[in-house]
Amino acid sequence: MSSSQDVQKLVKSKLRGYKFIIVSNREPYLHMHTPDGVRVKTPAGGLTAALDPLMQATGGTWVAGGSGDADRECVDKQNRCRVPPDKPKYVLKRVWMSKDEVDKFYFGFSNQTLWPLCHNVFREPVFEESFWEGYKHSNALYAEAIKQETRGIDKAFIWFHDYHLALAPKMVRNDTWKKQKLVLAQFWHIPWPTRDIFALLPWAEEVLEGMLANDLIGFHLPSYCVNFLASVENVMRIKADYRRFNVKYQGRTIQVKPFPISVDFDAIDKIARVPGVKQEMKRVRAPQYIPYKYIGVGVDRIDYTKGIIQRFRAIDRFLEKYPEYQNNFVFVEAGAPSRNRIPAYMELNEEISKIVGKINWKYLRGYWKPIIYIEGKLDLNRLFALYRTADVCIVSPIQDGMNLVAKEFIAANVGSTGVLMLSKFAGATEELKGAVIVNPYDVEGFADAIRNTLEMPPKEKRRRMKNLRDNVKKNNVFKWLSDFICESAKFIS
Ligand code: F6P
Repeated sequence: MSSSQDVQKLVKSKLRGYKFIIVSNREPYLHMHTPDGVRVKTPAGGLTAALDPLMQATGGTWVAGGSGDADRECVDKQNRCRVPPDKPKYVLKRVWMSKDEVDKFYFGFSNQTLWPLCHNVFREPVFEESFWEGYKHSNALYAEAIKQETRGIDKAFIWFHDYHLALAPKMVRNDTWKKQKLVLAQFWHIPWPTRDIFALLPWAEEVLEGMLANDLIGFHLPSYCVNFLASVENVMRIKADYRRFNVKYQGRTIQVKPFPISVDFDAIDKIARVPGVKQEMKRVRAPQYIPYKYIGVGVDRIDYTKGIIQRFRAIDRFLEKYPEYQNNFVFVEAGAPSRNRIPAYMELNEEISKIVGKINWKYLRGYWKPIIYIEGKLDLNRLFALYRTADVCIVSPIQDGMNLVAKEFIAANVGSTGVLMLSKFAGATEELKGAVIVNPYDVEGFADAIRNTLEMPPKEKRRRMKNLRDNVKKNNVFKWLSDFICESAKFIS
């Protein structure tokens, strides 16, 4: 399976006659006011990037929360618009929430309760009744939007995404399943914690009941599936089948299965070769930008799970321990701001600017400083130029469901000259065997790994990168999509 056209054919053959609906909190296109009029933007993050090519190929409807400040001006009476705006291929149906609703649903329960809980409580989750009430209420808004989109239709395949929508599957099934043929599936894009951590959640049973309304539940890794089944056993006192990876509930068998998400390798490989990227590669190396021998790169959504602070500590130690790299090595970190209303994220932003300031001041020499911190999403040519020029890309989460930056870097490293350094706590580590693996908490080991990577012979770099590229090319996003769709299709009678 190598292209969106292949997946299109698969969806048509497997889901014949079923309306195809994707549901997520994050929308793939936002309409924003700018001084030049309304412009369309795409969000940071892997979910929308992975699913948009599929929707463009298959058509159908994507139900998502409207979050652009011009979104309401760009929809019809049913709150729909066709996207991508320049070449419409599918319907985007927007769900509206007030600021208070967003506060409780998105900034509250989703990102201050479930997010830290599922990332093994690296920040203490907030267990707040009003967040929970807001989460239920907003899930009902999504369920209502889905009902509107399935009205008068007798068959639909509804694919829920992520931890924002744990309750919506049950709401949809309760209301409509007797009249319609529905296949409900959910992909959980973040880790599932151990059963003891999940049991901390005061509403653990309701969350699981909501999810068990699905026919299929997907996670990135087998270990997350095992943790989920163990949570079901622990909280709901139902026996799970660990051999078949399923559980029986209310007369249905719910399949739980790993599907490691990936990127569109061929598309990224192609973009990385365009003339604009090549020009930008020259600019990156120009005397007024980065004329130094070694370049490292990091690209993240600013989140405490991404291990950005740990990465900077390791860079500090590396320069201290191996002073010959001072004035010779520059690390470019591009951080896209995220979830800024949440105190933990505000604190992290401050912490990042403090540590960058401290390290840069410590080593500052003339024009050279070790860290270039760019706040925001990089222009595509600049991003791909950095991926192609960098000696090392450091992806060092302290906990991450998968991490698509790692796979994006591999697909863009067309010259096989760079090395991927990957945290042992990223889901991607299970697959990406040619990466240099680090423990982000082991400052000494991490610093040594940076040095060893920069000194790695070109032949070894090429060998590793070739393995990685072969792997990501084969296990691309279309494989993820087709595996998920084939498994879902088993529920079509
Ligand atoms: O990693 C989990 C996830 O929800 C992704 O699916 C998504 O791409 C990313 O986080 C972005 O999060 P948000 O929608 O909060 O910006």
